[in-house]
Amino acid sequence: MCEKKKNLILAFESSCDETSVAIIEDGHKILANVTATQINSHRRFGGVVPEVASRHHIEQITDCIATALAQADVTYEQLDAVAVTYGPGLVGSLLVGLTAAKAVAFAYDLPLIPVNHMAGHIYATRFVSEIKFPALALLVSGGHTELVYLPAPNEFKIIGETRDDAAGEAYDKVGRVMGLAYPAGKEIDQLAKQGQDTFNFPRAMEKEDNYDFSFSGLKSAFINTLHHANQIGEELSKVDLAASFQQSVIDVLTLKTIKALNNFECQQLILAGGVAANSGLRARIEEELKAFPTVELIKAPLKLCGDNAAMIGAAGYVAYQAGEVGDLSLNANPSLEFDWID
Ligand code: KG4
Ligand code: ZN
Repeated sequence: MCEKKKNLILAFESSCDETSVAIIEDGHKILANVTATQINSHRRFGGVVPEVASRHHIEQITDCIATALAQADVTYEQLDAVAVTYGPGLVGSLLVGLTAAKAVAFAYDLPLIPVNHMAGHIYATRFVSEIKFPALALLVSGGHTELVYLPAPNEFKIIGETRDDAAGEAYDKVGRVMGLAYPAGKEIDQLAKQGQDTFNFPRAMEKEDNYDFSFSGLKSAFINTLHHANQIGEELSKVDLAASFQQSVIDVLTLKTIKALNNFECQQLILAGGVAANSGLRARIEEELKAFPTVELIKAPLKLCGDNAAMIGAAGYVAYQAGEVGDLSLNANPSLEFDWID
């Protein structure tokens, strides 16, 4: 006889350019995690075009739901709740996932759990380990770069964030001037492994007494270096450019993270978001954490670093336990943010 499945959450993620539907059991077991990516469609524009993204979400979402239910061998009637990303993200994209989630919640009389996309990225690590509090999260994605303090389950307090570009955005912008396909993070990471930090690009805000970041100066320095070389007909080493850029990003991310670990008591450091897939960043943080033997490092699994609905289901489970339930008036909030620490 097959075991009864418990606490089944149907989760939706559609904040940017991935349409994803997952079914999560007990908050940490993935029964299905189906993602339709639109990257090939946006590549020709060198970035995500919001109107194109919404249209693709509409085209994909019902198929993703059907595939997820089939893969998990679950019917709508067996579900316990519906979780959905309601921000931050592109409003037209968010609304597609939100509307689908509301439709299922209404039709099957299920609780609707609103999930912050960034909480989702943090809870992607729930699939490798339980989260022990207090914890610190370094969240690095295409849209956000922030250090978040987690005093208790479902509580998120920003202690620092980027003042301009997100780390992933900087990767994608310098990738574009290097002639790489969007999104360029993974390819720059590969190139960086073969090169050396010969350009010594700036490390922004290193000496400032805060946990904030800035990547626009680095991006400009990189672009100016490349343009100047082009003007004088000089060919620069692609691998050294990539290694130099990446080293600068890793240095500042690591420096501020270590500073936070020195000032906030934490049991764990969580590394999450699309840029957390970066091999150089993962290795460097691991190395630096040796100086903090009481802090456990939890890295989001590589296949769950990018946007996906499984992470939304994991975060939704915790939000639901904390009593966070929305109703059918729930709206998308494109600029949703965690609160700052007091
Ligand atoms: O979290 P995510 O999937 O989407 C957002 O919520 O933004 O992050 C996507 C970002 C892109 O900017 C992409 O270039 C970057 O993650 N990325 C990487 C790597 N893999 C993906 N950046 C650096 N190194 C990587 N290996
Ligand atoms: Zn994301």
